Amino acid sequence: MASSSLVTGMFEKVGAREIYDFTLGNPEIEPPAEFTEELNRIVNSPFSGMHRYSSLAGYSETRKAIAKTLSKEHGASFNEQHVIMTAGCAGALNVALKALLDPGDEVIILAPSYMEYPYYIDNHGGVCRVAETNLDFTINIDNIASNMNPSTKAIILNSPNNPTGEIYSERTLKLVAELLYEKSYEYGKDIFLIFDEAYRDIVYDGIKLPDIFRIYSNTIITAAYSKPLSIPGERIGYAAVNPGMKDSSDIMEAMTFANRILGFINAPVLMQRVIANLQDVRVDIAEYQERRDFFCDALDDMGYSFIRPKGTYYIFPESPAGDLEFVRELSREGILVFPGTLFGRGGYFRIAFCVKWETIKRSLDGFGKVRNFLERKDV
Ligand SMILES: Cc1ncc(COP(=O)(O)O)c(C=O)c1O
Repeated sequence: MASSSLVTGMFEKVGAREIYDFTLGNPEIEPPAEFTEELNRIVNSPFSGMHRYSSLAGYSETRKAIAKTLSKEHGASFNEQHVIMTAGCAGALNVALKALLDPGDEVIILAPSYMEYPYYIDNHGGVCRVAETNLDFTINIDNIASNMNPSTKAIILNSPNNPTGEIYSERTLKLVAELLYEKSYEYGKDIFLIFDEAYRDIVYDGIKLPDIFRIYSNTIITAAYSKPLSIPGERIGYAAVNPGMKDSSDIMEAMTFANRILGFINAPVLMQRVIANLQDVRVDIAEYQERRDFFCDALDDMGYSFIRPKGTYYIFPESPAGDLEFVRELSREGILVFPGTLFGRGGYFRIAFCVKWETIKRSLDGFGKVRNFLERKDV
């Protein structure tokens, strides 16, 4: 609680003025029409048993549908035995960590990264070690290597990355894999890669994501429909293990058991049915790309310094002042953002631009004012 209390009191009381909330990655873009149609179709054709528990790993038809999609994308042969349905990507991360970790096992995360990882690792008795990325948010292999030791059990990589929008290149991921293979050999144990693909479909400029399953055998991906279908509240996601992993059936069994004993029991059954038939449906990524381009151009003109995100719906600019001070200053203009400190890198702030157009447009004055104000203060 002490470490999470930073958020409390972060913002100035802004009274009745208009609020431009860029804090949460809770998309305001509505789900695609196909989602609502499929949901209605299922709800309007009820059948006996439709609300019972599913098997702990999830419905076979749903897992088969995902396995088919993964096989198409990765050119490997996935089947339902490689897929487990979970309560969102967060559920997938937790069941994977629960399955892998013994107390004291170490898990490497990168900084900056998703703010919940250290808590998830701690949930399962793991010890979190943080490897800083480079200034441009690319992976620093030496920093990962210097955090490895015989207690290393896993590393979590997230690409496209929250909060930076970085997408790791195939070349870099191969270097990470080389290091993991080398250290697995040196320590005489398996080291796992948990590859968090929560934003796998939110990718810009036609970038193709490298095929992580081909790059490293001991890979578990975690993913969800939260972002691609804009349904984060429905809590539907999955984890998939590499068919080429040596003990994949043991890992799947352990994750299935973890789904039960962590109290999820099974992923929400109605949503399991809905997404089974929506494998090719996504929100319109162009809507996000237009927002990214507009917002980035505007921030650029104002003199903010940042790397244009390659994916996700976050921008992670440098704070013109200390990040907590700057976030407080923005909040006086009604603009709410999260400080970089929350993601493990001070001196930055995160904007979640999955909001309505008018929120972005109307906030620009405030972003400009605070930037100028701080410039005048010569910060
Ligand atoms: C990097 C990352 N991983 C996992 C999650 C959790 O996703 P879900 O809401 O599908 O559980 C999020 C949510 O924002 C995220 O940003």
